[in-house]
Amino acid sequence: MSPPSKPPASTYRYNEKPVYTTSNGAPVENASAWQRVGPMGPLLLQDFHLIDQLAHFDRERIPERVVHAKGAGAYGEFEVTHDISDITTVDMLLGVGKKTPLVTRFSTVGGEKGSADSARDPRGFSIKFYTAEGNWDWVFNNTPIFFLRDPVNFPLFIHTQKRNPQTNLKDATMFWDYLSTHHEAIHQVMHLFSDRGTPYSYRHMNGYSGHTYKWIKQDGSFVYTQIHLKTDQGSKTFTNEEAAKMSAENPDWHTQDLFEAIQRREYPSWTVYVQTLTPAEAEKFKWNIFDLTKVWPQKDVPLRPFGKLTLNRNAENYFAEIEQAAFSPSHMVPGVEPSADPVLQSRLFSYPDTHRHRLGVNYQQIPVNAPLNAFNPFQRDGAMVVNGNYGANPNYPSTSRPLTYKTTTSAHEKWAGEVVTGLFGEIKPEDYEQANGLWKILGRTKGQQANFIHNVASHLSGARQDVRRRTYDMFSRVNKELGQAISTETEKIVRGGAEIASRL
Ligand code: HEM
Repeated sequence: MSPPSKPPASTYRYNEKPVYTTSNGAPVENASAWQRVGPMGPLLLQDFHLIDQLAHFDRERIPERVVHAKGAGAYGEFEVTHDISDITTVDMLLGVGKKTPLVTRFSTVGGEKGSADSARDPRGFSIKFYTAEGNWDWVFNNTPIFFLRDPVNFPLFIHTQKRNPQTNLKDATMFWDYLSTHHEAIHQVMHLFSDRGTPYSYRHMNGYSGHTYKWIKQDGSFVYTQIHLKTDQGSKTFTNEEAAKMSAENPDWHTQDLFEAIQRREYPSWTVYVQTLTPAEAEKFKWNIFDLTKVWPQKDVPLRPFGKLTLNRNAENYFAEIEQAAFSPSHMVPGVEPSADPVLQSRLFSYPDTHRHRLGVNYQQIPVNAPLNAFNPFQRDGAMVVNGNYGANPNYPSTSRPLTYKTTTSAHEKWAGEVVTGLFGEIKPEDYEQANGLWKILGRTKGQQANFIHNVASHLSGARQDVRRRTYDMFSRVNKELGQAISTETEKIVRGGAEIASRL
């Protein structure tokens, strides 16, 4: 039986008058008063309005995201701008002019829910497309690479950015201790400590899949892909000092900027590109395409434009529509498959797992997460069923519906080997190569290399001496002069701090 139809709670009116009610819908005599004995006497347990309000208030908070806790989002649409039917069978991407509705969420990574938007951090760039064949989530960052290529390191590295277990303070020693012993992170560190690590706003940054995915072609073969979203507003960044000032004066600046731009109808947009490699090309490629610390250089693998993403509507209610949004790399649609990148593989598990913890087992029924056309009567019951629980439909595969659906299935890669316990990739000289390339790119814009040295030194000066030394050595492997310059500037700040302390 389906539930009786009625207006949504926010528009519900008792007797056509806007009367406040208890949660069971009974009008309350006075919404801002509780029953008491006499004008100054104690409260009464019999007053449901009292218990109802307090008990709900006591339960208002849900767990914040373990990473990416601070964020902002909006709705929009994706439009196919170029024919790419030669490389994909994803329904949403077939047909120039085709539009798909979507919701986005942008975020910082390390800080808590109330932390400053302008912090030095990578930024999350999540999109949920409501396609005719299910929700397709792009859970991207604003950097094309990441700190690690072996997911075993993810919880460890994230812990170094959280608070020290004893002092409950952010701890530069933990952070650099990890990085200076995990040199595969150097490429991402070069991004993070350039001014790219402090974007001016969410509207002025790019998005990248980072990972390699597989797109299935009409003939069942596949191409490896990486996706780039380039901001049409132009890339814009803060300097270290501007970001610190903004963090202090307006910690919610990115949230405010996005909301107000959309209210002003200045709709932010991004041009969307894909890079592709055939399996044969990937085999011969200089870089391991499953190594998340490396980009596919655009001179070798050109960007091919195929779409435009525009944000044009703010949420009516932040908690319902943005906080409760649940993005996962495993929310895929026919025509796209994960690659063997081990970081991606572990993310496929981690996100729905955390959604079940954060939002509950029926998180896919929350309106912002609900797909346009779900029919999954095998998932029944559980806490908070709000979709009618599939009524009288059988809860097992019955003959009332076709059991199969025709999609273009791909020729899977073949893997064989012994089970081993070990790291994905030892550190090699080539691990510093792309980091060195980025150092040279920074050199093309006046002041960027100097800013980089200053940004590292400001942070690294808070770390223990042995950790600082190990970190100078790490940067020297990217470029000798860079290591030297960071050492000189960092030690100057350390000495300056010690001098001030001795005078106090
Ligand atoms: C959020 C795990 C790597 C992008 C999260 C969350 C978890 C997580 C548990 C919280 C999700 C939620 O509460 O809804 C992991 C693990 C990783 C990993 C285990 C590696 C082993 C990455 C990488 C990227 C990324 C490489 C980008 C390429 C994001 C984004 C969010 C997020 C954008 C925020 C999603 C939102 O807006 O709700 N991650 N992550 N993560 N992660 Fe990761």
